[in-house]
Order: sequence, then C-alpha cells, then structure tokens
Amino acid sequence: MKVVLGVGAGIAAYKVCELLRRLTESGHDVRVIPTRDALRFVGEPTWAALSGHPVSTEVWSAVDEVPHVRLGQQADLVFVAPATADLLARAAHGLADDLLTNTLLTARCPVVFAPAMHSEMWDHPATQANVATLRARGAIVIEPASGRLTGADTGPGRLPEPLALFEVAQRVLARGGLPDDLEGRHVVISAGGTREAIDPVRFIGNRSSGLQGYALARTAAARGATVTLVAANVALPDPAGVTVLQASSAEDMRKAVLEAAATADAVVMAAAVADFRPADYQDFKIKKTESGPAPVQLVKNPDILAELVQRRTAGSGQVIVGFAAETDDIVAHGREKLARKGCDLLVVNQVGADLTFGKPDNEAVVLAATGESVVVERGPKEALADVVWDLVVPRLPEATISHAPDLDRLRQL
Ligand code: CTP
Repeated sequence: MKVVLGVGAGIAAYKVCELLRRLTESGHDVRVIPTRDALRFVGEPTWAALSGHPVSTEVWSAVDEVPHVRLGQQADLVFVAPATADLLARAAHGLADDLLTNTLLTARCPVVFAPAMHSEMWDHPATQANVATLRARGAIVIEPASGRLTGADTGPGRLPEPLALFEVAQRVLARGGLPDDLEGRHVVISAGGTREAIDPVRFIGNRSSGLQGYALARTAAARGATVTLVAANVALPDPAGVTVLQASSAEDMRKAVLEAAATADAVVMAAAVADFRPADYQDFKIKKTESGPAPVQLVKNPDILAELVQRRTAGSGQVIVGFAAETDDIVAHGREKLARKGCDLLVVNQVGADLTFGKPDNEAVVLAATGESVVVERGPKEALADVVWDLVVPRLPEATISHAPDLDRLRQL
C-alpha cells in the first residue's frame, strides 16, 4: 500500500524512524514528507535511505511530476508523526505552505495525526480547537501518551511508541479507514491476570499475557471510543490513546473497574481474575515446615463481572461482556456461565497447554444472552476484538451521550 509519512518538527521525530522501518518491512511503499524544521531533528539522508525514495520538503522539486498533488491523491494512508501544535494548526486551517500541508489538502484517503508536544501546548484551547476541527473533518487524531517529555518534565504530550503507531497504521490500512461507531462512548476493558500475594515473594496467579485485552483496547480506540484499560501484570506497551490503570490483585482490579464502569457505555472483562486469594497476607517470607497443614488458607475473591451486572443501573443500557477460558465442551460450559453471570455477551475460548496464552492468534465462540452465537475462526486477536465490538455496538442505546471519564480521578486509584 502507498503510505505518506509526514514528519513534523518535534524531537519525537527520532521515534518515527522506527515506525518507517516497520512500515517498509511490512511491504508498504512509504514516501516521507518532513517539514523544513523536522530536518533539524532527523536529516534528509536518514529518511531517504530508510524509505528508498527521494525526500523533499518543498513543492518546487521534481515539479514536472506535480508532487504536491500526486502524492496525496495516490496515497492509501497519510500518517503524520509527530504532529506538532503548529502543524495541527496549519492542517486545521487548510494552509498549504510546504509539500506536507499541500499533500494533506489533496489526500482523499484516511489521515492520521499522532500529536506530540509539551502538555501546556496540547492542553491549550487553540490546539484543542484545531484537533476538534480535524476530527470533525474525519481525520483520526490519536491521543498523545502521558509520561516523560523532552526534559525532566512529565505529562500528556508524548508520542506513543512506534509499535503502537504502526498498529494504528496497519488497522487503518486494513479497514480502508476506521468505523467511528464507538465515537462518544466510554468503554472499560480489563486485561492480564491478577496476582494474589501470599507473602513478599510469592503469589497465586493466572496465566494471561493481556494480549487479547490490549487488542480490545486498541480496536475500541481506533473506532473512536474513550478507552480505560485496567491492566493486571501485563508487560506490553500502552496502546496509543488509551488510559491505562494498573491493578495487581483482584481487589485492586475490582476497585478500578467498578469506578471506571460508573461512566461506561460498555465493560469488557477480558482479565483472568483469580477466584481465590490467601486468607492472610504474611509480611515476611513464609518458611516451609516439615509437618502440619499447608501454611496458606484460601478465601474466595469477589466476582467482578457478576458485581458489574448487579450494579448496572436499570435502563442505563450498559453492555457487559465476559470472557471464559474453557478446556473442554466449551459451548455448553459457556452457555451455563453466561446465564450464571448475567452478562450480555460471553467470549468463550478453548485453552490448553499451548493454545491461546501469549499467542497473537485466538479463536472463539461469542455467545449472546439473546441466544445467538458467532464462531470466530483462528486469526489475530484484533480480528476477534473487532467482532466483539461489532456485537457490542448494536446493543448500545441509540443516543450517543459522551461520558468523558474523570481521568485524573481514575489515575489516582
Ligand atoms: N471474573 C471476574 N471476577 C472473578 C472471576 C472471574 O470478573 N473473581 C470474570 C472474568 O474476567 C471473565 C469471566 O468472569 O470475564 C469468567 O471467568 P472464569 O474464571 O472463566 O469464570 P468463573 O466464574 O471463575 O468460572 P469457573 O468455574 O470456570 O472458574
């Protein structure tokens, strides 16, 4: 596919070299169009060598090929990273004073902006208004990540990691744009596996990589949702544009999920929650004894999914999705679990020693409380995630009410 990679004048341009590498290695034909000042951060030879194409910032080179029109017209995707405050402003106002902004005006394909700047610049009403304008025109503007900025300061404004950007680009290319059917919705997703501490060095845990939950978060964000991801012991990079809350134990997860769910249109419990935890936490390392009972007594953990269903306000229309990992007779066990938990959809997958856990692929049967079921053949976890959202969307109430979650409060949990 033909990709135009627009590069703005931000220090994060160095991260975009890796994005370019990933795009070309997956077979895309990438033309890099930096702004003049972007070349202060990463020079023209780097972009030319990595893309295999000549690089220009101006409309005045190779004029016979009319590049200011042709590059945009022929592209399947224009991806701008880092999108600086200035570049977002120029794009929002339709300026065409260099090759990149000309290309943005001639492109008829999906356009993605990945902003990166200091928090103050991102939060400024001018930047926010420009972002709103670009989104209203159909551009995809990824939320910047939070964390360390150029200097010692931290806050929202970081460019998400190259892998996360690459995944967004791949999804947009695969779907020829993105449906925005979750626009204005807040979705909460749990991922990973909880750990129940026995003592300072041991825990009872679950085998779960978090890959499926992260795929759900990425796909929901790509479909326009505001996403809160409650992650338990997951070693994966934060998906672009997603608020990630860390929760280690079932009790931590319960608190974070219930709090976030209060403003959610849909909740998907993809996490493997430990059913039991040690009755008492010992704050010293337990020594083994030669005789006597095992030193760990277990008590039952709260069932978060069942509690979500019980607490759901009547008439709220909130859609609740559970996951079930079964080793045998998966549909019969799944139907029984769906009825017992009272959720709207249950994604049932078969697990075994070398199936599913930590693999990029998954296959499942999605059971609906209304009786129907959808078989999802083995494929990327993103594909299963999109089937889940395809089933959630028609179950949401008609009115699109934007429940912006109170992110500061959620981050403090
Ligand atoms: N779940 C939960 N809280 C728990 C246990 C499970 O919210 N304490 C959720 C999981 O996130 C998942 C669903 O319930 O979405 C099913 O989990 P599973 O462990 O398969 O269900 P159990 O009720 O524990 O059934 P089983 O008897 O098969 O262990």
